Amino acid sequence: MTQDELKKAAAAAALRHVLDHTATGAIIGVGTGSTANFFIDALATVKDRIGGTVASSEASRQRLEGHGIRVLELNEVTELPVYVDGADEITPRLEMIKGGGAALTREKIVSAVARTFVCVCDASKLVPVLGKFPLPVEVIPMARAYVAREIVKLGGQPRWREGVVTDNGNDILDVHGWSITDPAGLEQRLDQIVGVVTNGLFAARGADLLLLATPEGVREYRN
Ligand code: 5RP
Repeated sequence: MTQDELKKAAAAAALRHVLDHTATGAIIGVGTGSTANFFIDALATVKDRIGGTVASSEASRQRLEGHGIRVLELNEVTELPVYVDGADEITPRLEMIKGGGAALTREKIVSAVARTFVCVCDASKLVPVLGKFPLPVEVIPMARAYVAREIVKLGGQPRWREGVVTDNGNDILDVHGWSITDPAGLEQRLDQIVGVVTNGLFAARGADLLLLATPEGVREYRN
């Protein structure tokens, strides 16, 4: 199976989960990236069953609207039963690195509101320890160099993702060289640096369910 076929299988499993666990008319949280795109395409086949969606990026909003799926602002929504999104890396404890698509801040906000975070991945994303994938950190542009120096003090090697501006108008630093054995601790530490908007560690609020597509079928991991 190709990686895209695996991503599609994970997205199809997520759609089955959503249909089995949410009431007709529910609002669905939708993530960002190529796996989330497969989920959006699958969601389009049942768009009359859902009340609408909340998107974690402008790219996902456009794709959803292109399918004729209603997209609401998060501020209009009080109940979000489920959020479906991919990850760049995920551990068996369902801690993640996210933000490869620069949407980490909105992803973290939407997932904070959601009752259940369903992560959809192909098998290559499952790792014992986070950090091989560079950790994205969204920063206020004027603080970029300062934040980079503070990250160096913590042992990381930050690189500015030049030419990329987030949906919130900010910059991204990708931090290399970390083997992250305490994801929750590092997530908290990075958030304390002035000028950091969000970091791509999703450990304090990890996923609740991982649907991991392998050539042998979709495996489920729960928290
Ligand atoms: C975007 C993300 C994505 O979920 C992550 O990059 C995974 O993307 P893909 O499904 O394309 O591998 O965090 O900011």
